[in-house]
Amino acid sequence: MGAQDSRTTDSVQLDSVPVDEELVLVFDFGSQTAQLIARRVREQNVFCQLVRHDLSAERVKELNPKGIIFSGGPASVYGPNSPQPDPAIFDLDIPMLGICYGMQVLCRYLGSDVIPGDSREYGRTSCRIHEPDDFFAKLPAEMTVWMSHGDQVDNLNSQFISLAATSTCPFAAVKHRQRPLYGLQFHPEVTHTQLGGQLLSNFVRKICGCKGTWRISSLIDREITSIRERVGSSRVICGLSGGVDSSVVAALLYRAIGPQLSCIFVDNGLLRKGESDSVRKQFQDHFQTDLHVVDASELFLTELAGVNDPQKKRKIIGKTFIDVFRKEAESIEDARFLAQGTLYPDVIESGANADGPAETIKAHHNVGGLPEELGFELIEPLRDLFKDEVRKMGLELGLPEQLIWRHPFPGPGLAVRCLGDITPERLKILREADAILLDELSKAGWYRKVQQAFAVILPVQTVGVMGDGRTYEQVIAIRAVTTDDFMTADWSQLPHELLQSISTRITNSVRGVNRVVYDISSKPPSTIEWE
Ligand code: XMP
Repeated sequence: MGAQDSRTTDSVQLDSVPVDEELVLVFDFGSQTAQLIARRVREQNVFCQLVRHDLSAERVKELNPKGIIFSGGPASVYGPNSPQPDPAIFDLDIPMLGICYGMQVLCRYLGSDVIPGDSREYGRTSCRIHEPDDFFAKLPAEMTVWMSHGDQVDNLNSQFISLAATSTCPFAAVKHRQRPLYGLQFHPEVTHTQLGGQLLSNFVRKICGCKGTWRISSLIDREITSIRERVGSSRVICGLSGGVDSSVVAALLYRAIGPQLSCIFVDNGLLRKGESDSVRKQFQDHFQTDLHVVDASELFLTELAGVNDPQKKRKIIGKTFIDVFRKEAESIEDARFLAQGTLYPDVIESGANADGPAETIKAHHNVGGLPEELGFELIEPLRDLFKDEVRKMGLELGLPEQLIWRHPFPGPGLAVRCLGDITPERLKILREADAILLDELSKAGWYRKVQQAFAVILPVQTVGVMGDGRTYEQVIAIRAVTTDDFMTADWSQLPHELLQSISTRITNSVRGVNRVVYDISSKPPSTIEWE
């Protein structure tokens, strides 16, 4: 990785870390879970940020962290271009924890060997602790841990001792005899490692001596200061979608620059029932600033007429959105910045840090809403955060709970839930059915128990009976899923009585529907959306 890794330099405003704040740095060696380490440390109320793996020892000294964690990474420490830290880091008297690749880097610098293991070890395994240590406070002698490595430490230098082992890895956890240096071959940051959070807590609190005084409000203050410094007296445009992320960005900006903020909300005609009004109302309740609502529904529906292919729909919606947004943005004078609610998972999934050591897993459809050609400088204040941190921030900023816990709604909206022809009539049926579903889930206390739920209108009609007559009408499918990260998902085991009341209410009150089906597919092999 060269000097061009933008994620760990631009997005981390380390200059603004107050000297009196407890800080832990995570050196990013390219692991997909590096940011997860930072999140787990922040859960301990200790400020933690990801930095480049080669941050100079000099800069580290200035920042004065209470601890350093080396993340894992996909390379081999002995490989030709493997990412390496500034060696002077090891002369600083700062507690360090190396995880997986990070442990191998640490041990290798301090005189141990790293060799390819007999076979790649991947998945859950049992780990036995054989040396008591503060690092293992409140942990059982045996626990399940998550391994993902090919190489491992061998021939441990005599300055170190082994603290724990698995059946194939004698140095699952190690410690320097005199200095506060630790290594873990497994990944404590992932939930598959039982009590991994406790282990990181022990490192941060017992080994680094942190008290845990940091709060999400400090992050809000930091972001506000940095937004003010960056924006000066310019105007910032923020696209509102009605979802959590863009609302939190707007609330943050409103706090930072008040009247210099202009928000644009595009009604694409593919929103849920009452959504346009509720965004307007929510906005007026919370921000007294410039709101532009653009009703472009006719344009979108004309462009989508006769289009059935899901990817074509997405392309048309994406392009039309940019055209509409651009036109409105151009009408706003002095606008120099565009604020977006990009979250950390979007950054990692889109491979936006592709010049860093991380390998890209998948290109995700949530990213790339507005292109660079719009000519604005981007402000992405949520770029280092996970969804649950964004929710906390939103609550702290005074946004209503109802908004904070809203299920995600895809950019192309109902277009990808209206299978077959997208017409105003079919959208109306879908909206009504969807509203009933969400209402029934809320009334039954199930809305917060599922992560996403929606109705889909199918491109077929089926036969039914109503009174004495035969009907030939639309079918509504109901989808409800539980998921941690939307990459995999299970269908929700909704109670039968709830399904029954949803179905009865839809067929009784939505004209044109005579059948309701429940989707019992998991992801994979299905996806959450039907298109
Ligand atoms: P899938 O259907 O891929 O969805 O399992 C995973 C998550 O992504 C959302 N999704 C989208 N979001 N634009 C978006 O902004 C899209 O084109 C899109 N397609 C799917 C989906 O709602 C779920 O939360």
